[in-house]
Amino acid sequence: MSTASTMMDKNLPPCAGLCSLEQATQPGLPLEECVRRLKRMHYMLKRLHGIFVARLTAEPIYELKMAFAHHAHLCAEHITAIRNRVAEMREPPLGLEEVPHPALERFFDEILCAPTTEERLCGIYTTALGALQKEVSVYLQETHPLTDAPSRRLLRFAQIELEEMSQYGQQAIAALVKAESINDWQESILQPLLQAASCSTVDAASLPRRYSITPYRYDPIPQRDERFTDPWNQGVNAEVFLYHPDMPARAKVLMMLYKRLREIDVPEMMASIIVETSGKPWGYYRDMTRQLWDEARHALMGEVGFHALGVDWTQAKVTFNWSYRLNTECNPLERHGVLFFIEQGLMPKTGKRYEWEVAQESGLSLAATIQDFDWADEVLHSQIGRQWYVPEFESLQKALDFGDAAWSKILSNWTTVKEQGLTQHENWWPGIYEQMCRSLGEQPDSRAVAFAETYEGQRADLQRIAGE
Ligand SMILES: [Fe+2]
Ligand SMILES: [Fe+2]
Repeated sequence: MSTASTMMDKNLPPCAGLCSLEQATQPGLPLEECVRRLKRMHYMLKRLHGIFVARLTAEPIYELKMAFAHHAHLCAEHITAIRNRVAEMREPPLGLEEVPHPALERFFDEILCAPTTEERLCGIYTTALGALQKEVSVYLQETHPLTDAPSRRLLRFAQIELEEMSQYGQQAIAALVKAESINDWQESILQPLLQAASCSTVDAASLPRRYSITPYRYDPIPQRDERFTDPWNQGVNAEVFLYHPDMPARAKVLMMLYKRLREIDVPEMMASIIVETSGKPWGYYRDMTRQLWDEARHALMGEVGFHALGVDWTQAKVTFNWSYRLNTECNPLERHGVLFFIEQGLMPKTGKRYEWEVAQESGLSLAATIQDFDWADEVLHSQIGRQWYVPEFESLQKALDFGDAAWSKILSNWTTVKEQGLTQHENWWPGIYEQMCRSLGEQPDSRAVAFAETYEGQRADLQRIAGE
């Protein structure tokens, strides 16, 4: 045989470039064991995904909120890939919803229930992600590079993104975490649980527990950090400005960037739908998480736009009125209905195409890039709504009516929040507009400076129509 292979040798890499012949001659893991390990990684990713989503709404720090949205999406994509791979290796039932080990379950319950951002960051990024990365790299070493090439391929991709998540987490921990007490929790609770999770026999009653003694309850109230100084402010009617025929394109671009930034409230709200909707096929959670991340990305695009134009975004008052009220006054299907109703409104001529055209007209090419992709994302979101929301109803019209009605029942709180002293609805617009003009070296447009239309007297639902 070796003579034959020498005879045939054309000095090309063997095994289609996967590995050397020597490496391929070593036996790998049995398929049964591969499935067991993949399902365990799948479980770990699923729990991480659940923690990112559940903790996003009430996480006040803007950058972390955005990172949680991103990392939830990455987890969801790798979960999907592993599910598909397991389905290639086994006949149903695949057992993907089973808990692989009671200690692993409690390990993630502890992280989910951890009361502070600092502890959650350490639990997620140091302990849990570290354990998952180790499982992935051991699998890659031990499985057969040729026979199990499809699993290796998707895990190598997962490895790249897990490493990026980990690096982000370590930077966040370095910036935010000081408390010594976290070490105690990691050492006396999390580490023993992880060790127990690799033992085949375990006495469930003996597993340590600290934060998960009280079962986790999702907190639907959106929180913002100190840079969001006036979260009830509804003092600048962005839609009236954007569709005003007399306003210059560059001023409209700044208002659009504000609208993008304001989309922080969409992941805050979508997280509540995902957390509070159970029993759907995995594809639902995957698609909803993709959209959640896209909306976070839209907020980031707004921030980037402000930065590029030399405008301090904290001077624009970014309200949480929308996510706050949907999360506290509507059920999950109603929230989804409102989202779908708004997004359907973005498709006609006055919606995303118009925003992109305004950006083009402004000559600010970054704004055009942003609106170009924002538009494409919204088309995708409309499709996600048609796949997962509309089939709950007899017809598209009934689905739209339900969403319309859900938001209409929320009355404008413009006067209430003012009377309660929560905001004075300050007109912050001229301040940021003049900042942009200074930075571009342009003369402010007098009509744009004078703009002072608020959301007073507007039906609450109209605040978002014609532009998410
Ligand atoms: Fe969006
Ligand atoms: Fe959207």
